[in-house]
This record gives sequence, structure tokens and C-alpha cells, in this order.
Amino acid sequence: MPIVDRRSFLMTGLAAGALTLLNRGRSCLAEGKEVLGVKVDDLPLLGPYLLPTDAPHERLNIAFRGTDEKTLKAGGVLSYGLKTAGEQEVPFAAADKHVLELKDLAADAEYQYRLKLGDYQSPVYRFRTSPKPGTRAAKTKAGVFFDFHCHSPADVDAQEKGAESFFKRYSYAMEDIKKFAPDLLIMGGDIVEEGTRRAEYDTFFRIMRDVAANAIIVPIPGNHEWSYDKNLSVYADYFPVPKNGPDADKIATWSFNYGGIGWQMRKTATGGEWLKRNIQKLKDGGADTIVDVQHHQVYQWAEKSTDLGVKGVCDLFDSEGGVRLSLFGHRHIHQRSLPLRGGKATTQEKSEYPAETKGTIYMQSPSMWYQYTKPLENALIAHNGKPSFAGSYTGYGEMTITPDAVLSETYAYDGKGTARHDRMDQFKLMRPKA
Ligand SMILES: [Fe+2]
Repeated sequence: MPIVDRRSFLMTGLAAGALTLLNRGRSCLAEGKEVLGVKVDDLPLLGPYLLPTDAPHERLNIAFRGTDEKTLKAGGVLSYGLKTAGEQEVPFAAADKHVLELKDLAADAEYQYRLKLGDYQSPVYRFRTSPKPGTRAAKTKAGVFFDFHCHSPADVDAQEKGAESFFKRYSYAMEDIKKFAPDLLIMGGDIVEEGTRRAEYDTFFRIMRDVAANAIIVPIPGNHEWSYDKNLSVYADYFPVPKNGPDADKIATWSFNYGGIGWQMRKTATGGEWLKRNIQKLKDGGADTIVDVQHHQVYQWAEKSTDLGVKGVCDLFDSEGGVRLSLFGHRHIHQRSLPLRGGKATTQEKSEYPAETKGTIYMQSPSMWYQYTKPLENALIAHNGKPSFAGSYTGYGEMTITPDAVLSETYAYDGKGTARHDRMDQFKLMRPKA
């Protein structure tokens, strides 16, 4: 397709889709229900949503599943193309769930696609492939979401603690998330409240439908997944990822290169030989910058301790180099450190870090659900302005990656949702010269 502003394409795609839906009769109308300002649609399927492969410059996965008798028993066709969504077709037979791998894609390209499942026809969505290994994308946008804690309408009906609050808080941010229109959706664990509740995953895919249809989901689980869903089989059912983690964990630990950024997705505390090899593998695959993601805090820097670093994670980052940023959540606060090496700040600069800056920035990403702890004062903290409002709030991150830099911006919403706060924090990591 011609290069157009992604936002206007998204709107055009959605508008076209809405017309199609109107033309196709009642069974396809997204009536759904409104839960505290959030539309939970009742379309007869979850998805389509995009999932990574280990070669996202030529292959991507598209997942979806029917949710009523008709769509569960229906086959269909996924069509896609560079100029229009109709250039190539992948037919499929009926199944409980579908993960279609699109192969031989052009690198660094924006595709359109559309799904027909039985009577249902989706709007035209889009995806972007990665440039070839070692080459950089003109622009990649990553939405960074930790501790989403998706609840379902049934949780609200049951008056479960926190359920109403989830919908209210999500409603504050959802228009901004759609406007940002990410290419990648980094989901840093605690995606749902209870990992065995499929209704919560169902709700996630309904309220995030347009975002997940246009962005590759880059997930790891958190304790709210694995403490309920012990073997992570429910999680893995929705989020199959490339099987390139350690032998003992092919579900929750994995990595991929996208446009010169190595995304290292780890189950909490996964380190050792795998971590060392993986950092090297990402570099060999063309990553000039590595972003490490796990659910729990890697560097317990609010308490000036290395937490899981004592198991060698921080030490490996220090010795291997290249891991510029380590993201985690779990504690529902936003804090980030100066670039640290050996537990010490390597610079006092807070905003812009040249490529030769040594050390890793450890960032506790904001919580989408309920954020309540104030950032602590500490000599290692590098905030550019801290949230000053009282009480609980909610937030997420937006990363904009260009050939020169990784820009990280963090936003927060107050407990009433009356205002989108100005950026709570912002910093730029300059990338090494290509
Ligand atoms: Fe957690």
C-alpha cells in the first residue's frame, strides 16, 4: 500500500470495516455491552491478532478463534497483500482455534489483511514486517503494558474487588492507546487477573481488538498467570511464541529481533547459560540494542539491592553489554534507574544517553490496572519529573524507535481519569552508528 499515516489508515480500515459490517446483517454487528465506559463487543470471534515468529522480516502469525457455534464450525480465508488485502489468500478449515503463519513476506513492509470466518468478515487491518536482520526500521512504535489485570464483565457482576475499577481505569487510557497505534504490543505479565479465567482473556481480546489486530503482541506471563494456570497452558493457548527459550521453558521465555532491537522476553529469574547465549544470539542476529523484559523487578534499586541480580542477571548484563534497558513491573509503580553497572550509576544524565553509555537502565513500568506506590527517593533514580498527584493512578509506556534512538515515554492517568497527564517520564537511548 502507499505510505500513509498509520493512524489515518487505521481509521480508514475501521471505517471500511464498519460499512462492511452494516452490509452483512445483524449477526456481525458489534453490539456488545458497555461496562463502565468500555465497550465489550460481542463479535462471534476473538482476533484476528498478530503474533511473532523468530523471523518477523519474512514470517508472522495471525491468530483467531470462533466464539459461537457458527464460527467454531466454519472455515474461511485470510487474505492479505501489499497494495490491497486481496492479493494472496490462505484458506483454512474449521477448528477450535487458528494460528496461521504467513510466509515469504516482504521485509520492512506494511501489509493489509482481512479475515473471513464463516459469515463474519473483519475490517481491513494492517501489520508491519521487520526490516531484514541488522537493518533498522524508519519507525517502530511499541506500546508497553505491565500489570494489565484484565477483568471480565462477569467479575463486575460478581462485585469482585477491583473489577469495576479495572474497567474505569482502562476507559481513561483506551483512546490514547488506539491513537498511538503501536506496531508492537509489549505485554509484561499479569495480563489477566486470574490465569485460568478464559472470560478475562476473552475480554482482553474484545476491548483491545483493534489494537491487537494491528500490532504484534510480544508477551511474557506474570504471577497472575502462572500462580493460577500452573503449567501456563491457558496462557500458551492464547499466546504461542517462538520456541527458542531454554529447554525447560519454551512457553514463557523467548526472544526475537525486530528492526535491530533484540527483544529478550524472560520468565522471571531466567538467567544462566541461556541468558548469556541469548544475548550473543540477538547480537549475532543484528541487534544493536537489546531490551530485556521480565515480570518481576530485576534490580531492586528502590532498596539499593540487586534482587535477582544476585542470581547473576545483572552481572551478565554488565559482562555481556548491549542490554540497554531492562523492563519489569509487578510492584505497580513507575521508577527507573540511571544506567547502572556493577550497582553504580555510570552517568548522572537523566534524559539522553549516548550510544557509548555503559550499563543498563532498569525501569519499573507503570501498571495499567492500579498503581499506588509512590516512587522512592534514591540516588539511583533518574526520573524526569515524578507524578505528583495523590492516590492511585494508572499508566503505560510508549516507545518510539527510529534508526538513531529509542525514545521511552511514560504516561499516567489520575484516579478520576479526568486528565491525561503530561508525560510522567521521558528519556532517549541513542543507538550505535549503523
Ligand atoms: Fe505481578
